[in-house]
Amino acid sequence: MELRTQRLLIREFVLDDAADVQAYAGEAETVRYMDWGPNTEAQTLDFLHRKLASQRMLPRAEYELAVVLRESGRVIGGVGLRVSRPEQFAGDIGYVFNPRFWGRGYCTEAAGALLAFGFGELKLHRIYATCDPENRASARVMEKIDMQYEGRLRDFTWEKEKWRDSLVYARLATDAASFG
Ligand SMILES: CC(C)(COP(=O)(O)OP(=O)(O)OC[C@H]1O[C@@H](n2cnc3c(N)ncnc32)[C@H](O)[C@@H]1OP(=O)(O)O)[C@@H](O)C(=O)NCCC(=O)NCCS
Repeated sequence: MELRTQRLLIREFVLDDAADVQAYAGEAETVRYMDWGPNTEAQTLDFLHRKLASQRMLPRAEYELAVVLRESGRVIGGVGLRVSRPEQFAGDIGYVFNPRFWGRGYCTEAAGALLAFGFGELKLHRIYATCDPENRASARVMEKIDMQYEGRLRDFTWEKEKWRDSLVYARLATDAASFG
């Protein structure tokens, strides 16, 4: 599957993306709030092999996709949508971008398209996402794609040697949207 936005192509990962993915997945700055990384090259290859396998799952439970900057053809990040509770038409999203491309609205553009895909093609009713309370850029992206703040889960994850709270944001198919 693939999605197109004004500046981006959002498509399936391929093994040839390894170098572009490693360029951000191997950076401590990128993975500061993630439960993985920084990746070795072997870990990035393993990630790609797992994503290739998930592309073939039926019914498909996970859409972990490469975000390609159309003007350069390079992978600048990834977005993912998981159909976590199919019987409840519920899913969650996540995203990670190369720091060299932060702050230009690319994540908002890609995550917004992924939400539209989840509600449109997949007919989901509820899509949520979580972030570390210190991860202001991630929380801001969720606000910009009209996800509503629902609350704070205390000590929700054990990551990078400490307990971390998580902020929960969600959007329903029935919520009014203001983004394009
Ligand atoms: C979160 C992330 C994907 C955002 O990507 P991005 O392409 O820079 O996002 P956008 O440019 O679409 O939007 C970022 C918004 O956050 C804002 N922002 C960035 N850093 C901020 C900070 N420290 N405090 C407050 N707002 C901040 C930006 O100003 C922008 O908002 P604006 O358009 O209102 O100015 C990127 O920072 C990233 O890859 N982080 C590492 C991985 C990660 O943490 N993923 C999320 C896990 S929950």
